[in-house]
Amino acid sequence: MILRLLSLFLLINAASTLAQSQVEQMPIIDYQNRFLPQVGSQGMVVGPEKLAAEIGQEILRQGGNAVDAAVATGFALAVTYPQAGNLGGGGFMLIHLAEPNKQVFIDYREMAPGRAHRDMYLDEAGAVDRQSLYFSYLSAGVPGTVAGLLHALENYGTLTVRQVLQPAVDLALKGIPVTYALHSAIGSRKERLLQDPGASMAYLIEGETPSLGSTFVQPDLGRVLQSIRDNGRSGFYEGWVAKTISEAMQDNGGIVSEADLKNYRVVEREPVRGSYHGYDIVSAPPPSSGGTHIIEMLNILEGFDLVSMGHNSAAYIHHVVEAMKIAYADRAAHMGDPDFSPVPVKQLLSKDYAAVRRSEINPQRARAPMEIQAGDFDDSESTDTTHFSVADTAGNVVANTYTLNFSFGSHIVVPGTGMLLNNEMADFMSKPGTPNAFGLIESQANEVSAGKRPLSSMSPTLVFKEGRPWLATGSPGGSLIISTVMQTILNAMTFDMNVAAAAGSARVHHQWMPDTLRLESGISKDTVDKLKAMGHPVEENVRTLGRTQSIMLQDGWFLGATDTRRPGGWVAGAQ
Ligand code: GLY
Repeated sequence: MILRLLSLFLLINAASTLAQSQVEQMPIIDYQNRFLPQVGSQGMVVGPEKLAAEIGQEILRQGGNAVDAAVATGFALAVTYPQAGNLGGGGFMLIHLAEPNKQVFIDYREMAPGRAHRDMYLDEAGAVDRQSLYFSYLSAGVPGTVAGLLHALENYGTLTVRQVLQPAVDLALKGIPVTYALHSAIGSRKERLLQDPGASMAYLIEGETPSLGSTFVQPDLGRVLQSIRDNGRSGFYEGWVAKTISEAMQDNGGIVSEADLKNYRVVEREPVRGSYHGYDIVSAPPPSSGGTHIIEMLNILEGFDLVSMGHNSAAYIHHVVEAMKIAYADRAAHMGDPDFSPVPVKQLLSKDYAAVRRSEINPQRARAPMEIQAGDFDDSESTDTTHFSVADTAGNVVANTYTLNFSFGSHIVVPGTGMLLNNEMADFMSKPGTPNAFGLIESQANEVSAGKRPLSSMSPTLVFKEGRPWLATGSPGGSLIISTVMQTILNAMTFDMNVAAAAGSARVHHQWMPDTLRLESGISKDTVDKLKAMGHPVEENVRTLGRTQSIMLQDGWFLGATDTRRPGGWVAGAQ
């Protein structure tokens, strides 16, 4: 208790000292750019939804640190942003602690249940049963979110579980207004939600989407949040909540047991680290593939004069895309849970390796991917992970990405809990050579095994400039996450874009397989024609690729940007 009070006192003192010094130096913002960040001086939370971001900011105002605010935001998003905020999923949190100046990576990815096995999603003909993989009780891994957020709070926060959870309890029990963003999120998944009685009960009113402006109450979810508030981790992983989940599993062909829930463990891992023209990048290690391949791509690109090519010129996109193909090919071959098989992270991150791979790139011609058996690319399911970034005035920064996998996960709500189950088991390789829901080919390193964590692309990332935190970012989007985060930080580091411009500029994506170059709108026809002439199989004007939530730190100022191309994102702490 004394320690908590002391850290609160230090935080408040640090905040007022910073506030005085800021008056001296205003932030540098290029107002000619059409994308502009929002500015604050008292900490900031940038997330996909307003109420949850404001709750995090209120925690900062009350003297909590960035971890307290991140945990409060994470629990609140489980109520306000049901398509991806969650209790029933998992994720990764990357923390920069100003004191003692170190980074901590918390892996709270879902784990395969004890009865999971390699061929569990194959039907009698040996084909992948996608209904079972995506939309059944069998789709769920053991959820990690509650354990992960509480681990962060207990080890790096300053407030109590009650203080950070009560706002989420209130939102669930008193209700939230149905905004356009919430209305359209639920409405777009209505048909699928209708197929599960628990999901229909939780999200629909007599089978219909809650109407705009009405109040949306989630009493069952509120009771689960109260149980966590009152009992901590055991309020979810033991007792009535765990029993309710495991009984629903037994009744519906699922395999997550009470023992699986009790045995869930959070892992602190060493983040991956790299450098790019004097900036330092810290990001997600395996079982995420994200950080490793972001750094691998940057290492390859560091040897090209991207500035001379010009941002989003045909030459620029060509080189970026060729680097993407190399990284995603490596992902397919090498990546999985490092606790189950070795992952060659060190080699993939090395500058020497990047130099060799760079030399393979033909500056004039697109290279065809290796021949490999590809199955159906199921792009019809929207994917919705979510990211938020938090920074406080004491210099602590958090980048958190968590997910249910698809938007609304398996679309199954465990009756009596109001809680959506993830369908993260779909991130494992279900059958060799068969692409997953993101079209990604993977190796045996990512086959299903009891207790294993499925390979992820989630990439909460921090960039440091002159040793100090400079940019926190991350994105949803499955396979798109890696290319989205890489382009966002590349835009800022190479082209000096402000954080909003870095987030808002048109992005491109190629993941080696399938052989498609996806371009957001905003790339000129002239450029598209040149890319086609170079041999790129272009798909134009695809839906928004990823959606970053970012904070840039500049001399005590907080510059926030939420990608405006999807509704509802919010910068809390702007003044
Ligand atoms: N479920 C998407 C990912 O973790 O990459």
